[in-house]
Amino acid sequence: MKILIVFYSMYGHVMQLARAAAEGVDAVDGMEAVLRRVEEFETVDRIIDGNEYASQIREKQREIPVCTLDDLRDADGILFGSPTRYGNMAAQMKQLIDSTAALWLKGELEGKPAGVFTSTASTHGGQETTLFTMMAPLLHLGMIIVGVPYSVPGMLHTEGRGGTPYGASTVAGSRGELIPTAEDLEIARAQGRKVAEIAKKLRG
Ligand SMILES: Cc1cc2nc3c(=O)[nH]c(=O)nc-3n(C[C@H](O)[C@H](O)[C@H](O)COP(=O)(O)O)c2cc1C
Repeated sequence: MKILIVFYSMYGHVMQLARAAAEGVDAVDGMEAVLRRVEEFETVDRIIDGNEYASQIREKQREIPVCTLDDLRDADGILFGSPTRYGNMAAQMKQLIDSTAALWLKGELEGKPAGVFTSTASTHGGQETTLFTMMAPLLHLGMIIVGVPYSVPGMLHTEGRGGTPYGASTVAGSRGELIPTAEDLEIARAQGRKVAEIAKKLRG
């Protein structure tokens, strides 16, 4: 069975969470992670051309195929990862979700488990609002939302960083200078594992 992990990442933080979630999926017997990126806008691509760091991150993602509707269709469960943009998902990810009308009409995503994860620049920059608003279209599509339970180690902490019951997350820093902590990555792995385990149970 396949679990799709589709993400958008300009500076690499969400990509690191996506790779960790894929490890969590692959740790479940009989489950295979399929990693896909969301297509970049041409206008943003041109801006990235002039930014050395973002260009490097783009190169690191080159070998990951762009997500298609068939990838969504073929998956037994899906994790969606997007950086926070003004407290919401990035438009690039919204574009993918808004292209699913054909799937919605036939109910092709109904009953599939789904998880969401994000990254913000600052601690209170809107992780929860992004994760919650990412869930709304997935509910319209009939997906079953899978969060991160507090039994996952690292979920109960008080210092400012990632890891929410609504989905895995990380704090990137105002210039993207931070990297996901070991616990942020462990929580992303746990979320990937959970989605895979639930997909397996739903299949029976
Ligand atoms: C247009 C724009 C809006 C942003 N809005 C927010 C925001 O609301 N809150 C926040 O903490 N960070 C915000 N950021 C910072 C991004 O969330 C940050 O660059 C991202 O989490 C890094 O993830 P990535 O490395 O996967 O691209 C914004 C960045 C851009 C370019």
